[in-house]
Amino acid sequence: MAKRIALVTGGMGGIGSAICKTLAEAGHTVVTTYSKPGREQSWLADIHGLGCHDVYAYQCDVTDTDACQALVAKIHKDHGPVDILVNNAGITRDVSFRKQSKDDWDQVLRTNLDSVFNMSKPVVDSMTERSFGRIINISSINGQKGQFGQTNYSAAKAGMHGFTMALAQEVARKGVTVNTISPGYIATEMVMAVPEDTRGKIIANIPVGRLGKPEEIASLVSYLASEQAGFITGSNIAINGGQHMM
Ligand code: CAA
Repeated sequence: MAKRIALVTGGMGGIGSAICKTLAEAGHTVVTTYSKPGREQSWLADIHGLGCHDVYAYQCDVTDTDACQALVAKIHKDHGPVDILVNNAGITRDVSFRKQSKDDWDQVLRTNLDSVFNMSKPVVDSMTERSFGRIINISSINGQKGQFGQTNYSAAKAGMHGFTMALAQEVARKGVTVNTISPGYIATEMVMAVPEDTRGKIIANIPVGRLGKPEEIASLVSYLASEQAGFITGSNIAINGGQHMM
């Protein structure tokens, strides 16, 4: 398999860490971003300790268009052009719409959706010029079906797939694929932050009978990033234990 350069936004969370590890194990150079300094050294020590030595972390606010452009230029200088972009950074501000503030809306839309523009823009021309690229957007089951308390998050996550379908058509002939993955409820801190009784009711409605594992998402990312996945583009692939079937 060709060694590629992968950029994974927000790679220090549950799903992001698994994606970084899996792409590194597949032989790629992996760069991830973090928004605030604090835990990057221990995260890097952990992943290097697993034998994934070609993994790097750079600070970048994914809501800041200029900062994202500067990050991609720095990655190019330090490692080379980005071949694989995984738009994974995301936050929740769960609250019913009647109580939702403009700030709850803006923070979620900027982090989950504007970031997709901010990161895709500086990598896409170079991908098309080199006739290879993979853009993988990590959306959510709740962008497909909606969720009480998540008008902001569901709107942003549905928007990601609209972006995927449009850009996929624009770059398909240039060797660049653009896909969405829509995870269901995965055992991460984000899901553990859902109140326990609510979480219990959600798990009871997952036909497979459990939360998903971050590694299950990471394996699909790794496949979509590979040469073999070149005929998959504009897709929205659900991994949700059967909770929502389309
Ligand atoms: N369905 C129907 N009614 C609900 C409800 C639900 N899920 N949750 C609350 N209600 C009802 C309440 O019982 C209450 O009714 P009454 O007024 O009759 O008492 C009313 O709605 C208002 O409830 P709250 O005032 O408690 O609403 P809130 O604004 O505080 O919000 C909430 C509650 C925080 C949204 C809570 O429902 C919640 O956390 N829900 C889970 C949201 C969720 O699944 N988030 C996913 C996070 S993980 C993730 O996002 C990753 C991913 O991609 C899958």
